[in-house]
Amino acid sequence: MLPIDIGDFTVSTPDEGWRDYYHKAWQDLCDKAVAAIDAGQFQNAFQAVRWIERSEVTDQPAADKGSRFPGGRPMMRDSSFRGNGCLVPRFSDPGYPALLADLMEHCGPFDAVVEIGSGWGRNLFDIFYHSAWPGPYFGGELTSGGRQLATRLSPLAGGMEVSFHAYDHTQPDLSFIGARQNVLVYSVHSLEQVAMLGDDFFDRLCSFAPKMTGVHIEPFGFQIEQPGPLTQQHAVVNRERGWNQDFAKTLHSAQDRGIVQIDSIAAEIFLSSDITNPSSFAMWTSA
Ligand SMILES: C[S@@+](CC[C@H](N)C(=O)[O-])C[C@H]1O[C@@H](n2cnc3c(N)ncnc32)[C@H](O)[C@@H]1O
Repeated sequence: MLPIDIGDFTVSTPDEGWRDYYHKAWQDLCDKAVAAIDAGQFQNAFQAVRWIERSEVTDQPAADKGSRFPGGRPMMRDSSFRGNGCLVPRFSDPGYPALLADLMEHCGPFDAVVEIGSGWGRNLFDIFYHSAWPGPYFGGELTSGGRQLATRLSPLAGGMEVSFHAYDHTQPDLSFIGARQNVLVYSVHSLEQVAMLGDDFFDRLCSFAPKMTGVHIEPFGFQIEQPGPLTQQHAVVNRERGWNQDFAKTLHSAQDRGIVQIDSIAAEIFLSSDITNPSSFAMWTSA
């Protein structure tokens, strides 16, 4: 791991690069989780997702120095809001699946929901349990380990229609969704890992159904605003990591060319789960 110093925090970037890192990380996680699934440890996908999250989490530095619950978990966790660091209760979360389920209810109905860069499917399963909408859901993911674990979790989500497919943000192809009329496509912290999306990224997404709605929960706040001191540090981290620099520019360019209409864009409005990588929000509809 190559350390990057951003004041109070040192973050690291893997020597092998992020693409290879996730190939190995999701394969290792898949092997571990499949053993637990095969041992019959879970009644449903909700329980499996929570078990994976508990086993994967590492606590960050400031919270780690404070009081602890019996068993060892810190009572607080490091977070940030609008560019300022803060401590928040350890068992609070940023609420992405609840937000997406709520948007589905207020802005739908959609005839397909697609996550691009879906990892091992955690958001899709959580959205299903939050929304009660049966699907079809689709996950598009770069790594075979992520797709494999997601596919093994799918039978545990009784009543959910879901499938996982090979997908690369650098050549966005959603043809695996088939013929649809009104699609919600979203991403959560995966576009972050593509340095430059390229000018036609949103044009290509919009070509897969007559009506497309996009939601992105991604760390692009520094590209549109400087709400607080951590925002500038985050811009440095992203540049050093080789992470995304052109999300906001590409989205605005798509709007200027009449491809999408931006419904909402807001910088660093979640209690971030990673103080060094705060989430922002954007929503668009095809024009
Ligand atoms: C931080 S994880 C987030 C996974 C998932 N969205 C979540 O919130 O749990 C980043 C994911 O982006 C995927 N990813 C990275 N580059 C990608 C690309 N070019 N195309 C598709 N997925 C990619 C990684 O394989 C990984 O699964």
